[in-house]
Amino acid sequence: MTNADQLQETIEDMVQPGKGILAADESLPTIAKRFAAINLKSTEDHRRAYRQLLFSAPDLEKYISGVIEFDETLSQIDTNGRPLHELLAHRGIVPGVKVDKGKSPLALSNNDFMTFGLDGLAERLQRYKSLGMRFAKWRAVYKIGGTFPSAMGIAVNAEMLAIYAAICQEQGIVPIVEPEVLNDGTHDLDQCACVTEAVQAEVFNALHRHHVVFEHLVLKPNMVTHGSSCSKQASPEEIAEATLRVLCRTVPAAVPGINFLSGGMSPETATANLNAMNANFPDAPWLLSFSFGRALQQPVLKHWLGNPENIEPAQEALLMRARLNSLAQKGQYVASMELEN
Ligand code: 13P
Repeated sequence: MTNADQLQETIEDMVQPGKGILAADESLPTIAKRFAAINLKSTEDHRRAYRQLLFSAPDLEKYISGVIEFDETLSQIDTNGRPLHELLAHRGIVPGVKVDKGKSPLALSNNDFMTFGLDGLAERLQRYKSLGMRFAKWRAVYKIGGTFPSAMGIAVNAEMLAIYAAICQEQGIVPIVEPEVLNDGTHDLDQCACVTEAVQAEVFNALHRHHVVFEHLVLKPNMVTHGSSCSKQASPEEIAEATLRVLCRTVPAAVPGINFLSGGMSPETATANLNAMNANFPDAPWLLSFSFGRALQQPVLKHWLGNPENIEPAQEALLMRARLNSLAQKGQYVASMELEN
């Protein structure tokens, strides 16, 4: 099989109507934060047990086409001695892995970030591929406020995302390209739209310059929304309209799928916003779906609490969110469904 055939096959498995991606790629500091919220210590065994709970949830493959894993997960085994990452592929869920090494402040810049991890990336991808990984993820982060993100911050991160995506495609791995404009702050919907448009335009310019094939990548952007501390809250319809306007201006129709991150929105809000996009813009050229971390996992953690006796209700909570987001992908979700379960 040629590289292009491999990439095409992976895209077809990842981008499917009614399905989205589960982001379970929390780095060690991030998963420690998530566990702290349920008063649980982030030990290796708790992380292993939690990931086993997620990956073995019955019927997950009905609504989830891919799972993003963290490097540590690839060396963990389940209670039957089976590698955790093998729990996904055999049920038709595409396994992928986060390959960036996190963000740091950009040197000599005021409030810009830069993501690390390009050194040795091709070799790491070869090892990941030998373990069955078929896609990768790289997250760039932009903060809104005052004069930032700066033009330099936007340019640097676009270049790194494009180099990452090119290395992935050269290795036969589909890149998830994730430019995340953070929703922390008091900015309003229009400011978020303005920054997101500048960020995405630069990202696609860089991807094109680096010969990245648009048909063989997945975009994972933020929704265009008001800041978490903004006094004026936008409705799902306003968020859908602003998000689609920015996407239409910046993302080529050749891109097959756009899978949004949830960025700290509540599970219900993230689902309602995704639904508004699909209900109001059914002719969008891309499949608009989800690649949520917190908006899929928050209810799971609340039910689990680190107690083995709670595995079943926790898995049911995951399946419920996955199912409601699947409906939102088709524009068929209504808020009253939250009460039916
Ligand atoms: P959230 O949906 O919690 O924002 O996480 C998605 C993700 O993968 C962040 O990189």
